[in-house]
Amino acid sequence: MIDTQPDISLSRYAEVLRKGSVIAFPTETVYGLGADAWNADAVARIFELKGRPPDNPLIVHVNSIDMAGTLAAEISEDARRLMERFWPGPLALILPKRPEVLDIVTAGLPTVAIRMPDHPIPLRLIEEAGPIAAPSANTSGRPSPTRTEHVRQDFGSEVPIIEGGSCQYGLESTVLDLSIRPYTILRPGHITQSELEQELRQPVRLISTHSVKLTGMSGDAPRSPGMKYTHYAPDARVRWMQPDELPWPDPTTHGTLYLMHRIRPDDTLHTERRPGKSRQSENRQIIQYRENYSEMGRDLYDRFRMADLKRFSEIAIEPFSDSDEAVEALLNRIRKAIGD
Ligand code: TXA
Ligand code: MG
Repeated sequence: MIDTQPDISLSRYAEVLRKGSVIAFPTETVYGLGADAWNADAVARIFELKGRPPDNPLIVHVNSIDMAGTLAAEISEDARRLMERFWPGPLALILPKRPEVLDIVTAGLPTVAIRMPDHPIPLRLIEEAGPIAAPSANTSGRPSPTRTEHVRQDFGSEVPIIEGGSCQYGLESTVLDLSIRPYTILRPGHITQSELEQELRQPVRLISTHSVKLTGMSGDAPRSPGMKYTHYAPDARVRWMQPDELPWPDPTTHGTLYLMHRIRPDDTLHTERRPGKSRQSENRQIIQYRENYSEMGRDLYDRFRMADLKRFSEIAIEPFSDSDEAVEALLNRIRKAIGD
């Protein structure tokens, strides 16, 4: 928070929500564009601002399991177990909804997605204003915002934005459908399949990027409306690139942004090497993640946006092994950007 009196100002934002306006706020995953989940006009404004198709439902953000109980028809034992273990955190659960949950929120589906964010700002807003329906705070077809300036790029001054710095994870939450068997991950995120299986003591299905592509318009589509829409791909072509394709000794082909992992001795010539977290700089074209995939996840959407702003023609990403499921969400987002 930039504000010196965050509590007072958050109360003011909560009041704005209660009055039916839309605001953007940080979460631990990405920024959200939120409205009072019980106010149909306010929620309609989210769809209007984003240009979001009306059949793509929203996640409702809560600050307790009790509040989730005001939205879900029933909190099953399995749902409760997951909430107790992973909330607050990057896990959205899809449950049968109570009849009073607005159709505009669920896009007419009989289920509702609910999550409790692990961030003090939305938790405080929810405490004062009740459950908040919020998709990611980007216009439809743009990458999810992980910093306030991304929200500003998409919405200008149309919505108030609560400043919260860079998001901790930078990729959206895991979406787990508990209304079907086997329980199914519709979108991989920081909470992994095996963590969920361990807690539930039963197999959990993971819809792969490939199966989404193959079945997106039919089989799984009614369950996961968001998946049938073309996901964000930068204007630049995104592709995998083996390190030996790097045109050394002058690897900075004009207009290509390289996202690399392994270090070569002469990399210092063309990249900024700073200890700790890498930061964007004006002419930097090779970003070294040194196999730090959580940093790459945090950065990815920022890099995509930067590449578009600078009109790069290509984003070349060094392939990495998918043997560690911690990279599942990152791989999923890259594959979507590639159109794989
Ligand atoms: O990390 C996040 O989840 C962020 C922050 C702001 O919480 N939110 C977010 O929301 O990514 P959004 O709207 O960009 O993505 C929500 C996804 C969409 O793919 C949507 O189709 C799916 O969840 N979804 C929501 N409700 C659903 C439901 N009842 N059944 C199936 N899928 C649902
Ligand atoms: Mg989104």
